[in-house]
Amino acid sequence: MSGSRIPGFYKLDVKERVEKIKAFASLNEEEVSLLDAGLSLEQADGMIENVYGIYSLPLGVAVNFRINNRDYLVPMATEESSVVAAASNAAKVFRSSGGFRASSSEPLMTGQIQVTDCSPEKAAASVIDARDELMDLANQQDPVLVKLGGGVRDVKARVVGDMLVVHILVDVRDAMGANAVNSMCEALTPLIEDLTGGRVNFRILSNYALERTARAEASIPLESIGEDLARDIVSGYRFASLDVYRAVTHNKGVMNGVSAVCLATGNDTRAVESGAHAFACHKGGYAPLSKWFIEDDLLKGFVELPVAVGIVGGGTMHPMARLSLKILNVSSARELGEVLASVGLAQNFAALRALASEGIQKGHMRLHARNIAVMAGASGVEVEEVADLLIEGDKIRVDKAREFLDDLRKND
Ligand code: MEV
Repeated sequence: MSGSRIPGFYKLDVKERVEKIKAFASLNEEEVSLLDAGLSLEQADGMIENVYGIYSLPLGVAVNFRINNRDYLVPMATEESSVVAAASNAAKVFRSSGGFRASSSEPLMTGQIQVTDCSPEKAAASVIDARDELMDLANQQDPVLVKLGGGVRDVKARVVGDMLVVHILVDVRDAMGANAVNSMCEALTPLIEDLTGGRVNFRILSNYALERTARAEASIPLESIGEDLARDIVSGYRFASLDVYRAVTHNKGVMNGVSAVCLATGNDTRAVESGAHAFACHKGGYAPLSKWFIEDDLLKGFVELPVAVGIVGGGTMHPMARLSLKILNVSSARELGEVLASVGLAQNFAALRALASEGIQKGHMRLHARNIAVMAGASGVEVEEVADLLIEGDKIRVDKAREFLDDLRKND
């Protein structure tokens, strides 16, 4: 099996789904056994402090994704029901018109070095004069990165109020880059103090990854979605572009997909989220990350966001993250960024389409009802039966779940 279009995937039981994923990603038995086991307590204890347990989340896979003419099964870790279904569904819609076209910039991250107690304009000139020396010294901190084709690309000096802020721009290749950039910033301290006569205070990566973005676009013929619905989606997008209250929620919808993939692949969700929301302001006021418009009888969507993510090092060494990356089968951090942008656009489309048609509650309710059914003790085929019974109009009757199950068990 090589395609990500797997009709009826959601109707399979977990074991059958695992078989499909196993075939798609050529997983071995050891990898499959991880799906149930996750992280061990010992591994967790080595990751953070004061460990006393493991917190698990569901790991789902979005099907139907086709990006730059390649099929992907996209692992998503999330507590929110309907996110995976919505992404899969939107991917199916766009698949019929070729899928997503995605691109990305070089993986450039910025490190900041704050210099105080100096005359900032004069200090800036001294730093720029020593640009090559600073770049050499920074590169010496990470010969492996340089060998892989990465390393420092530029040094800039900014006057910020009464201080100088030195920026180093580093091509971090397939890493998220925080360690490499922070080490370089720290190593430059003595030379920058010598050059400026000032005092270096903070030395840290910036999560405003303006130089490391990914873009995705997709379109569908108006006739396949319906002209009225397409116009209502565009009108909903315009609402977000005019009103910050709506824009924040619009972007939350984009990030529902992006963060779930980040989490599944062991990436730093907070880095990506803070970068995305800052990027949403980079032209002035807070704006939607995506745009939707009608052109040439097509509904067209576009998204761009910073993607400070890696496929090596850091959290990506988590065994479940390794497995997700194997399933996703991306060969570079840039490619992962392109998948994130495509998933974000798909997720956003699914939300806008639901909001412009039946509303968001219907889909949510169905999955929410299934969750409640499971919590009340339903298993196997009972889950759907109890879920059906729980939905009454636009409400979920939680009390009915227990009643139904008690009756059912009485007859066992
Ligand atoms: C819910 O998690 C996300 C939405 O609110 C996004 C949106 O309103 O666009 C449905």
